[in-house]
Formats: sequence, C-alpha cells, structure tokens
Amino acid sequence: MRILITGGAGYIGSHTTLACLRAGHEIVVVDNLVNSKVEALHRVARLAGRAPAFARVDVNDREGLAAVFARHEPEAVIHFAGLKAVGESVSAPLAYYANNVVGTISLCRVMDGYGVRNLVFSSSATVYGEPLKTPITEEFPLGPTNPYGRTKHMIELVLKDLHAADPSWNMVVLRYFNPVGADPSGLIGEDPRGVPNNLLPYIAQVGVGRLPAVAVFGSDYPTPDGTGIRDYIHVTDLADGHLAALRRLDAAAGYEVFNLGTGRGHSVLEVISAFRRASGCEIPCRITGRRPGDIAVSYADVQRAAEVLGWRARKDMDGMCADAWRWQRANPNGYEAAGDSGPE
Ligand code: NAD
Ligand code: WQD
Repeated sequence: MRILITGGAGYIGSHTTLACLRAGHEIVVVDNLVNSKVEALHRVARLAGRAPAFARVDVNDREGLAAVFARHEPEAVIHFAGLKAVGESVSAPLAYYANNVVGTISLCRVMDGYGVRNLVFSSSATVYGEPLKTPITEEFPLGPTNPYGRTKHMIELVLKDLHAADPSWNMVVLRYFNPVGADPSGLIGEDPRGVPNNLLPYIAQVGVGRLPAVAVFGSDYPTPDGTGIRDYIHVTDLADGHLAALRRLDAAAGYEVFNLGTGRGHSVLEVISAFRRASGCEIPCRITGRRPGDIAVSYADVQRAAEVLGWRARKDMDGMCADAWRWQRANPNGYEAAGDSGPE
C-alpha cells in the first residue's frame, strides 16, 4: 500500500515507518521536524534497506500537503503529527489546539480533496482522564484533564462527525497507553528535547549520567508499593499495532477505536528495578511529592484489539528496559550529532 505518515520522523512514527517499510509498503513521511531529526529517517532507511520518501511540511500547510498528495498518491494516512507535552499544553494551550486540532482538520481537508479517506489516528489513553476503575475499556467515559488530552478528545469528535457525514471515510483511532523502549538495534529510539517529562527516558538519562537521580512522584497512592501504576507498551509492539490497523482499514469500513496497551500495570518502583536489572546501572532515586494532574492507576483492557485487529503486545518490561538502555547507551545524546537537512 502507498501510505503517508505524518510525524514519521518522531519517536513512534520512526518505528512505525520502519515496520511499514519492512511489511513492503511504500512510505512518504511528512514532518516539520519541530520535535524530531531527519537522522531518525536515515537510520530507518539503514535498518529497512530502503528509504521512505520525506517532505518537510507542516500539516497546517495545505498547499504543501497537497503537493505531497499529488506527487505520491497515498492510499492511506497514519497521522502521528502533533505536540505531546502535557505541561507545555497547560502554559501554551493555543499552540496545542492550533497544531493538533486545526492541523488534523487541515490534513482531513486535503485527504478529502484527493479522495483519500483511509486514516489511522494516534490518540492517547489520556482521553480517559481519571478512570472509574481498571482495566479501562474503550467504552469508558472520556474526560481528559489537560489541554493536550483535550486536543486528542476533540480530534476524536471531529473524526467521528466526519465519518457520520460521509461514511466513505474509514478511520481507526488508536489510544496508546505508555509507549517505551526502542528498536532492538539501538539505532532509533526516543530523543526528547530538554529534560524528559516521561519516566522511562528520564531513568535512561540517569543511567548514562546526564541526570543525577530519578524523582519518584509520590509514594502515597493506593497501590501495593504506593507509586503510580501504568500500562507500558514496547514501541515496536505499538508499531505492529499500526500494521494491524492498516489491515483493518482494508477489511472493514467504519469509525473504530482501540486501546493499544499490554493490559498489565507496572509501578514506578517496578520500572526502576527492571531498568536496574537490564542496565546494571545503580539508578539513584528519591521520593518526592505527587506531580499535579497524575492519576494512581491506568491500564488497558486489550480484548477489542485482540479480537478485532488480531493484535496483542508481546514484549515484557524487561525487554522494554533492555531495548531502551541499548538505544540510550549507544546514543547518550540522542540524535544530537546529526544535522536537520534531509532528502527532498
Ligand atoms: P514525537 O514528538 O516524537 O513525534 C511527533 C512528530 O510530529 C514529530 O516528529 C514532530 O516533529 C511532528 N510534528 C508535530 N507537529 C507537526 C506539524 N504541525 N506538522 C508536521 N509535523 C509535526 O511524539 P511521539 O511520541 O512519536 O507521538 C506520536 C503521536 O502519538 C502524537 O500524536 C502523540 O500525541 C501520540 N501519543 C504519544 C504518546 C507517548 O507517550 N509518546 C502516547 C499517546 C499518544
Ligand atoms: C509515568 C509514571 C508518574 C516521571 C504521559 C502523558 C500521556 C501519554 C503518556 C501522550 C507516573 C511517574 C514520571 C518522573 C515519576 N502521552 N514519574 N518520575 O504521565 O502516565 O503519561 O505520557 O499521550 O498523555 O500524560 O507518563 O511517563 O510521565 O509517568 O515518578 O520523573 O511515572 O508520576 O506515575 P504518564 P509518565
């Protein structure tokens, strides 16, 4: 299939681009590189043995997007492009609504203009907000608690309305839980700008000595060890979930929503222990207060993805930590040394 991947130079996008190339698809990546480096795509090309096409275009640039559609004639779109930092979304909400919500509308308009109505969209477990109970099914009420989460919720509503207005649209919405890890090669991985917000990249940077110690945000949650519990999923499992979503687009029309997680929760202290085992590093940590807005426990009910998509996560926490560490150790400063200019 010819697939356009927005945000394909980013963390999840680069791993999914690799999975799609390996599955034999023709790929064009559209990314404005606001949070990524084109070096990620050079490395994807090395791993896949062939390169994706690349266009440095903002999804809000409809003319630029149209030129990519005209040239590459994609049959489906996987839409990763978006800003994702929860804290930043609180201080800069307009940037988040403009980039994420308006950007998606811009993309859908261009898709519609070219008659391309097959879409896989990156949503997030953050749309559930504080869940009533766990595991979380796709039917749970939605109530995101920050502007970033609200952009994802709004986009889901926009897409649902679009499908209701024109059922020839074919949409798979994927709600990711907590993606972590890296390709087992250690060549591509997560490369956050500045100090990481998320737990695993923070721990990994402590491992290589970029940061002194992990702050554990709260030990008084109603969980067995008092620290927060999340459903961490290996990014290569997640990438495979997108291949399953593409097959679903081919097989059945509609608007469908799936959780992508493992269905298992791990506490912060369990993740730190697993990372110590995988890396042999000491990983100093200290307990601090809770991070405002954090919830105690989140993990997915993964039945629907298993039954309808025929997809299940395979890799466990030890594998996630081993692969995160291999990437971080080989690239202590991420893609830093690499330039920003790319083909096309
Ligand atoms: P990322 O920042 O690494 O990747 C996003 C990519 O989109 C980047 O390469 C960035 O340069 C690009 N981009 C952003 N705005 C753009 C625009 N207007 N035009 C073109 N390109 C643009 O993030 P990621 O972790 O790979 O996340 C990918 C998607 O998955 C995002 O939509 C994110 O919200 C969603 N998601 C991520 C997580 C997570 O924890 N990583 C969890 C749930 C959902
Ligand atoms: C995990 C656990 C923290 C950092 C976020 C977004 C969500 C989604 C995934 C995009 C929690 C604890 C963390 C640290 C810590 N992204 N922690 N010390 O908050 O579950 O989800 O990323 O859609 O929208 O909100 O992930 O990795 O930040 O935190 O103790 O330095 O680790 O309190 O329990 P989170 P996280």
